[in-house]
Amino acid sequence: MERLVCLVIGYVFGLLQTGYLVGKLNHIDIRKEGSGNAGSTNAVRVMGWKAGLMTFAGDVLKCVLAIFLVRYLYRGSEYLPLLAMYAGMGATLGHNFPFYLKFKGGKGIAVLAGLVVSTNPAMVPIPLAAFLIAVIFSRYVSLGSLLASTLFFIEVATFGQYGIFKMAAPYLYEMYILVLLLTILAWYRHKENIKRLLAGEENRFGSGKKK
Ligand code: G3P
Repeated sequence: MERLVCLVIGYVFGLLQTGYLVGKLNHIDIRKEGSGNAGSTNAVRVMGWKAGLMTFAGDVLKCVLAIFLVRYLYRGSEYLPLLAMYAGMGATLGHNFPFYLKFKGGKGIAVLAGLVVSTNPAMVPIPLAAFLIAVIFSRYVSLGSLLASTLFFIEVATFGQYGIFKMAAPYLYEMYILVLLLTILAWYRHKENIKRLLAGEENRFGSGKKK
């Protein structure tokens, strides 16, 4: 039951569509501009850096706050890290599939960043470095996002039993599955980007090209 409550709490926080709201402030529907994604990359693309940074900050923060609330509500629980992960999963689902926008939201990478920062900051540097290297050298943000989310899963699968994720085995395996699902979801949400990457037609960051 606690898992479901945490998932729902996360989903409610995830519903706050920062990119959509920032778009509305700029009198546009971000889902109809650029790549059509309600995320920070597209916000930079169609509205500039200020809007992009606001979108990124809002999307990270909503996940951080959802996890903060769950940690407060379930303080003392022996599997709090797992419940935090359910809140992060809920926030990702709310962000990617907001019911009130016909389930058309973002791709969940900024939300995932909020999840990693909140649940295990020690796992931030490797995905972040891979993201930055991929984006700087290829200018494909989607490639950086796919690399970073996959590396997070590899980190959890490799080092997950240590640090704050230290939990009894059944919970640990459940957590591996949750992070694997998050990674699969990130790839699924990037399916159009993957097609464009394979065809050599993906938008390069800063090119102004819109698709
Ligand atoms: O996190 C989203 C990014 O990886 C791709 O965004 O707008 O280029 O599809 P976009």
